[in-house]
Amino acid sequence: MQGHHPVSGGPAKGPQIPPVSYLKWYIPRLKEMRAHNLSFSGLQFPWDLDSIEDVWKDHRGPGIDDREMVSEMYGVPCENVHLCHGATQAINIAISAASRGGKVAVEMPSYGPLSQSARVLGLETIIVRRKPTDAAWIIDREEWSSILSQVDLLMICPQLNPVGWSYTEEDREWIIETCRKNDVRIISDEVYAAADKNWKPMFREGDNCITLSSLTKVHGLGVIRYGWIIASRDIITNAENTFHNMAGMMSSPVIRIAEHVRDRLHEPVELIEHYREMNLPVLQDTLNRVGIKWNPPPYGVFGAFRVPGIDTMQMIDTIGKQHGLLAVPGCMFDSGLDDWLRVGWSIDPESFAEAASVLETVLRTALDIP
Ligand SMILES: Cc1ncc(COP(=O)(O)O)c(C=O)c1O
Repeated sequence: MQGHHPVSGGPAKGPQIPPVSYLKWYIPRLKEMRAHNLSFSGLQFPWDLDSIEDVWKDHRGPGIDDREMVSEMYGVPCENVHLCHGATQAINIAISAASRGGKVAVEMPSYGPLSQSARVLGLETIIVRRKPTDAAWIIDREEWSSILSQVDLLMICPQLNPVGWSYTEEDREWIIETCRKNDVRIISDEVYAAADKNWKPMFREGDNCITLSSLTKVHGLGVIRYGWIIASRDIITNAENTFHNMAGMMSSPVIRIAEHVRDRLHEPVELIEHYREMNLPVLQDTLNRVGIKWNPPPYGVFGAFRVPGIDTMQMIDTIGKQHGLLAVPGCMFDSGLDDWLRVGWSIDPESFAEAASVLETVLRTALDIP
């Protein structure tokens, strides 16, 4: 049987289009509303938006530029910004806008759409991997060098899903330099980056670098589907043409809701810091008690660790389910991660402490620790 992780290959149409197995597995389990949910990769922020007058009405008018909010967020002119519906759509639009028809290097492990969408758009993909260490995962420069000489586009997610760690400073510099030399454009999915105060968005590294993101993860507003792309003016022009062809226009309720929360976007970022302070020590103690050594990433709301020898998908579907626990198995992100488990700490400390205690029970049962 094929695994659950994203797959690379040639252009894919109709029945060859690969599933996003992660979503197929995850959505039904999320709908079960298990009592102890450690599956979230984004902040669960208690937004209370009251009602927004005329939310459904056309938001456009003289002098209004929808892109101002993102333009201010990054300190870039509106002409370098394109809005769309969530980061997933941004991935597709950015590929269409930046591709010159060549092969695409896709980083693994990954969120399926990041590594698979190029195939749906008629391009061939080749995998480059980040490899486990007990801190920031690292790249194999020989492998990346060889592949970056064969492609014209590279898809990355710096704050790597499922582990949450970004590149080492040296790897980041090396990737930027090597892509520049090989005339490779970089599409950088930075949905988790706003949780890292020191993050320098990739688009600042040159006209070949594109940043995309959304309000989904750090701001806890995935349901409104607000995303964006930041790139050179030429690439943004292509993005606009793509968007007009594939999506038409932005939804007015989406823009109106985003404008409504605009002055409060710092609140979720602050809450992440609070949750880290409260929840991370609890998780580390829990893992220590079952003999799992783990370094949390220095930012963000999720991380992943090995549960040696345990098929974590089976564990979550059997023992986890019995105890009402949901967390995400590593097999959803790449081959070779079957005994990894992704755990999020983006929920209130009381619920988190209860869930961590249930996680301990599940791990003890799986590992046969009395
Ligand atoms: C790397 C990455 N990009 C994008 C998304 C989805 O973002 P959006 O909801 O804005 O489409 C996810 C969700 O898991 C993700 O992990």
